[in-house]
Amino acid sequence: MTTIAAISASPSSPFAGLHHQPGDALLSLIASYAADPRSDKMDLGVGIYRDEQGNTPVLQSVKLAEQQLMQEQGTKSYLGAEGNKAYVALLGDLVFGPDMGGRPFHAALQTPGGTGALCMGAELIVRGSPGRSIWLGEPTWPNHAPIFQKAGVPIERYDYYDVAGMTVRYDALLQAMECAQPGDIFLLHGCCHNPTGADLSPAQWQEIAGIMGARGLVPFVDLAYQGLGDGLEEDAAGVRAFLNAVPQAIVAVSCSKNFGLYRERTGALYVIADAADEAARCLENLISLSRVFWSMPPDHGAAVVAAILADPSLTALWQTELADMRQRLNGLRAQLAATHPALAPLASQRGMFATLPLSPEAVGSLRERFGVYMPLSGRINIAGLRAETVSHFAELILPLLSRRSA
Ligand SMILES: Cc1ncc(COP(=O)(O)O)c(C=O)c1O
Repeated sequence: MTTIAAISASPSSPFAGLHHQPGDALLSLIASYAADPRSDKMDLGVGIYRDEQGNTPVLQSVKLAEQQLMQEQGTKSYLGAEGNKAYVALLGDLVFGPDMGGRPFHAALQTPGGTGALCMGAELIVRGSPGRSIWLGEPTWPNHAPIFQKAGVPIERYDYYDVAGMTVRYDALLQAMECAQPGDIFLLHGCCHNPTGADLSPAQWQEIAGIMGARGLVPFVDLAYQGLGDGLEEDAAGVRAFLNAVPQAIVAVSCSKNFGLYRERTGALYVIADAADEAARCLENLISLSRVFWSMPPDHGAAVVAAILADPSLTALWQTELADMRQRLNGLRAQLAATHPALAPLASQRGMFATLPLSPEAVGSLRERFGVYMPLSGRINIAGLRAETVSHFAELILPLLSRRSA
């Protein structure tokens, strides 16, 4: 008798061509951490903000905005493929400055998280200029390459970071821009680079904006941590450097970290265009793309952000909470950097992450012997540390650091 198992394994199964996929390394790290009985274990893996007690609480400003929505929201009817337009406009002011930084021709829409914005940007590139390459610095957020690969955008790579020296390879970025074809796209982290924490300086942003304008290259800025580096305005300086320098730019924004809205999937995509007709074609195509991907983005997170940004007292409260998160991250960084000259470069880096010059063997040994959990790349979530554990952590890693490059 033919069994159900035999039928589903047959070549006629619609799933016959599916291969096993590698498990998510970070998820298995979470599971191993949870199963570790040691009371002094440290979780430096998962990329979420944590307070000194190790919690990721809902912000007070978010709670108040949610109460307001509970009372005032009168309908759950559809919003449309562009999502919450008030949210998109208010967030646009935060990122670009008033009036979209003086760029009247633009297209924008709400997306499910920064990931949704990156996906929409990738799809728009494929529709608008198939075959154009996107340049990714190495290392970068592990989801970047799969997103562009899936959409069919050819990927070129350059070295962004010297892990041993803990510095940006600015020379390699300049060289990549020289090698790129006019029309190629450069993915840049707007601030708080993930996974290295090493950002471009304001002068470097200005310089690359000028080069991109002169060479006809297109910036695609991923802004996922605005306000968690040096401040809301300071962290937008990279994006804003392009406004006077290039005819077209793409900006993906995430509110997951700076509003603590992770699971609410709150993001937006902004496309800066050269002319009214170009902006209209971008918007029409983004709408038709989002219609097939998710039809409409989820409402709640965007409604919360809009309520916060539309109300001066909620905005002030949110900015205070954001400043607290930023100061905690920068304080921990400074504390770790001060423990030893080998860690000094961390002081000038920003955001939630740092990539330490630790070999995979050293990372494994830290996990086995001391219950310190981080991905094999040596990337740590700074917010996983606590003021009282920093010096202990430094003592554990210092003997294992790889030698600095000459
Ligand atoms: C650099 C970078 N871009 C984009 C995202 C996407 O964030 P989300 O889709 O959760 O809003 C993240 C999240 O970790 C990130 O680190």
